[in-house]
Amino acid sequence: MRALTCIPGRTGTLAVAEMTPPAPGDGELLVDGLAVGVCGTDREIAAAEYGTAPPGEQRLVLGHESLGRVRQPAGSFAAGDLVVGVVRRPDPVPCGACAHGEFDMCRNGRYTERGIKGLHGFASQQWVVEADYAVPIPAALERVGVLLEPTTVVAKAWEQVDRIGSRAWYEPERVLVTGAGPIGLLAAMIGVQRGLDVHVLDRVTDGPKPTLVADLGATYHATSVSEVAQSFTPDVVIEATGASAVVIDAIAATGSYGITCLTGVSSAGRRVQVDVGAANREIVLENDVVVGSVNANLSHYRSGVEALSRADLAWLERLITRRVPLERATEAFEPHDGDVKVVIDLQA
Ligand code: BGC
Repeated sequence: MRALTCIPGRTGTLAVAEMTPPAPGDGELLVDGLAVGVCGTDREIAAAEYGTAPPGEQRLVLGHESLGRVRQPAGSFAAGDLVVGVVRRPDPVPCGACAHGEFDMCRNGRYTERGIKGLHGFASQQWVVEADYAVPIPAALERVGVLLEPTTVVAKAWEQVDRIGSRAWYEPERVLVTGAGPIGLLAAMIGVQRGLDVHVLDRVTDGPKPTLVADLGATYHATSVSEVAQSFTPDVVIEATGASAVVIDAIAATGSYGITCLTGVSSAGRRVQVDVGAANREIVLENDVVVGSVNANLSHYRSGVEALSRADLAWLERLITRRVPLERATEAFEPHDGDVKVVIDLQA
């Protein structure tokens, strides 16, 4: 069985390797991998900046944005069902959050993540997953089911925004999404599904992003956050670039009772000047909230499936701008102009 692997912590080790096919244990499904999506985290792991192999192993099988077809069923699954594997598993203690099924909110950091931290991922021709951590995907979503995992990340981000908003009267109207990559576009899609006036900001003026945003019924801006904030005041900002200057401007852009949800993981070491006094004053006087959001639990996988099912399939398919066969998987890690989501086809 072939799988996309690397040695975490060592550059230049990304390679398709022969691996022993996995054998399902009790309550586990055996799945034929169909596709995995590649995201910034995968690129960081390949660049030796992140990630850990399973204990006692050198190589990590990559891939946390999965889609597969059940070969050997377990639980309520039948052979042939489409399935996505959940990324995170609770820490072994478990902490209070993990003990309550909120492993996305793990308190002690000892959680594991498929394809990222201590567990093999899904970028292999076959994989196993516990039925309890397998999410059924409607057959109609076969071409786009691989977008579920990034959708769960934004489903959680929106849930955080709602929960924070509901601490007082809350009827948001305008949202600014910074970054028109897959996370930003999927966050915008959910914003539109909620009937909000959605604005998306990115650097590029050509390629698929401006039209993808327009076709959602949202407004595209290729300018700075501060310029956008001069024309309207967002109630909510979903930050999906992780770029230091954008993050700081995003926090300042909201109006009173503004909520800025940070979803991008920045690289450390980039310094920007911040007037902390002014930022503090604004956050306090406006009852603003800045919240970080990562990962997703099973409830977000369910809302992710709902969001994808309500979306325009043709629009979702256009988010996948490149499909690369497993044998050439390393090409998926090379940035191309106009890339939004690059997917590796595991059966091609
Ligand atoms: C994944 C999350 C994961 C995070 C940190 C992201 O790319 O989508 O599921 O928790 O990386 O490892």
